[in-house]
Amino acid sequence: MAVGYQEEYVRAGRSLKRALKRSSLRRPLRAVKRRADELALVFASRQDRRHALSGPRQAWRVKRDYQISFLRDAGLQPQHRLLDLGCGTLRGGIPIINVLDDGHYWGVNAREQALTAARAELVDAGLEHKRPRLIHGSDFDLLHLGVKFDVIWAFSVLPHLDDAVLGGALRCVKEHLANDGRFFATVHLGSSKGGGSWDEFPDLRRPLDFYEKEAARADLEVLDLGALSELKHPPNVVNAFHHMLEMRAA
Ligand SMILES: C[S@@+](CC[C@H](N)C(=O)[O-])C[C@H]1O[C@@H](n2cnc3c(N)ncnc32)[C@H](O)[C@@H]1O
Repeated sequence: MAVGYQEEYVRAGRSLKRALKRSSLRRPLRAVKRRADELALVFASRQDRRHALSGPRQAWRVKRDYQISFLRDAGLQPQHRLLDLGCGTLRGGIPIINVLDDGHYWGVNAREQALTAARAELVDAGLEHKRPRLIHGSDFDLLHLGVKFDVIWAFSVLPHLDDAVLGGALRCVKEHLANDGRFFATVHLGSSKGGGSWDEFPDLRRPLDFYEKEAARADLEVLDLGALSELKHPPNVVNAFHHMLEMRAA
């Protein structure tokens, strides 16, 4: 019964969003929401504030728990080496670092501010001794780590890369993936290219065949594992409809 109510609630929210999208009130309402979010952040906890740099403040715990749980289900082992592309504030990274052997987690992120929050998060979690490498950079073509990874991970990242940056990210994946390594990435699938923006980044919806073609250019094969909501992600949380792609060397 409770689930029924929840579904109704989510459905009502979606139709309200659709109606607002078409309405002339869209812009002023967005501005009000932005202000309200900024104000709420002033009173939010330290962790809520940090992870607001990685996505909606209210969802960071779910997103954290989901990332490690997906990776464990996919077979992540302590001895594996993992490269987290767009690791952000370590919203997902902290439990991954906790599971992996010392020095086996590498994270790359474009925004220094997020990495500063990530380092604070690491200290608070008492995980500095795990010696994760946190690298500041936004041009994946410049990343040559000289290490092969069993798992490369990009959660809520590919939709924020424009086409040229995405191409670089896929070449970077190909260069750093171990022979039997796997790259998992969430994407917002849609029948045609479109989308908006998130902070200073684009927020892009793209068709699956676009990712397949881009991956083929980098000698990678793509498998669509399905929507996150079909992969144990709570259905009523932001971006549950995003898909998880798995890529391997072709
Ligand atoms: C939505 S956040 C997700 C963070 C993290 N993966 C998580 O799920 O907690 C997207 C992250 O991608 C990073 N990003 C965007 N473009 C990037 C680029 N070209 N290189 C590295 N990081 C990038 C942003 O700085 C941001 O921290």
